[in-house]
Amino acid sequence: MSVEGKLRLGVNIDHVATVRNARGSAYPDPLRAARIAEEAGADGITAHLREDRRHISDADIEGLMDVLNVPLNFEMAATDEMQQIALRHKPHAVCIVPEKREERTTEGGLEVAREENRLAHFIAPLRDVGCRVSIFIAAEQRQIEAAHRIGAEVIELHTGAYCDAHAEGDFEARDAELERLRNMSTFAHSLGLEVHAGHGLTYDTVKPVAAFPEVMELNIGHFLVGESIFLGLGPAIAEMRRLMDEARATT
Ligand code: PXP
Repeated sequence: MSVEGKLRLGVNIDHVATVRNARGSAYPDPLRAARIAEEAGADGITAHLREDRRHISDADIEGLMDVLNVPLNFEMAATDEMQQIALRHKPHAVCIVPEKREERTTEGGLEVAREENRLAHFIAPLRDVGCRVSIFIAAEQRQIEAAHRIGAEVIELHTGAYCDAHAEGDFEARDAELERLRNMSTFAHSLGLEVHAGHGLTYDTVKPVAAFPEVMELNIGHFLVGESIFLGLGPAIAEMRRLMDEARATT
C-alpha cells in the first residue's frame, strides 16, 4: 500500500483554555487561538472536552464547530455523555482517549484489547453520522489489532514515552521507543489504518516522528501554547510546520 499526502498538523488548543480558566475570565479565547492556528498553517484543530471541563468547555466546542474552516478533531472519553455531545455536533473526527480524573494529562493509551465489545458498540453510531473515529493507543501490536477489529479508521500513537525519555536524557530508551513507534506505524498502516501520532512533541522531538512515511497527522498542543508565550502563537506553529516539512522531505 502506498503512502500519500502531506503530513497534517493538528493544533491542540486545550491549554489556551487552561490559561483562561486560571482566572475564570473569557481571556485568552481558544477560538481566537484556533483562528490564528489556521492562518499559521494548522490543518486541523484538536480539543479535548474532559469530563471535569478543566480546560475546554461545552461552549468552546460549540464555538469551534461554528467558526472553524479546518476540521475539528474532538477528543473525548468513551462515555455516554461525550457520545451524545459528539453525535449532536458531528465533528470531522472523534479521537477516543482514556481519561482519569486525577491525571494531569492523558497518561498512556486506551486499553482497547480488553474492551473490544464495548468500544465497538460505542464507536458504531459515531461512524454512522460520518465522524472519522480515531483511537489513542500505545504503540503495541495487540492494541492496534484490537482498534482495527472494532472498526476504527484511524489510530493515534501515544508519543509520550518517547518524548519523556528524550527529556530525561535517556537516549537508549528514547531510541527504543522511537523504533517501537516506527514499527507499529508500519504495522498499523499495513492493516489499512490511518496513522496519527502525538503527545509531548516539541521542536526537539518532532522530526524523527514526522519522518515516518506512514504517519499522516501529528497532534501537538502543550509545547506550542507554551512556546507562543515567547514567539507568539502563529510563529510557534509556523516553526513546527517548518520542522515537520523538513523531516518529511528527507523520507
Ligand atoms: N493527542 C492526544 C490524543 C492527546 O490527548 C493530546 C493531549 O491532550 C495530544 C495529542 C497533544 O499532546 P500535547 O499537548 O502534549 O502536545
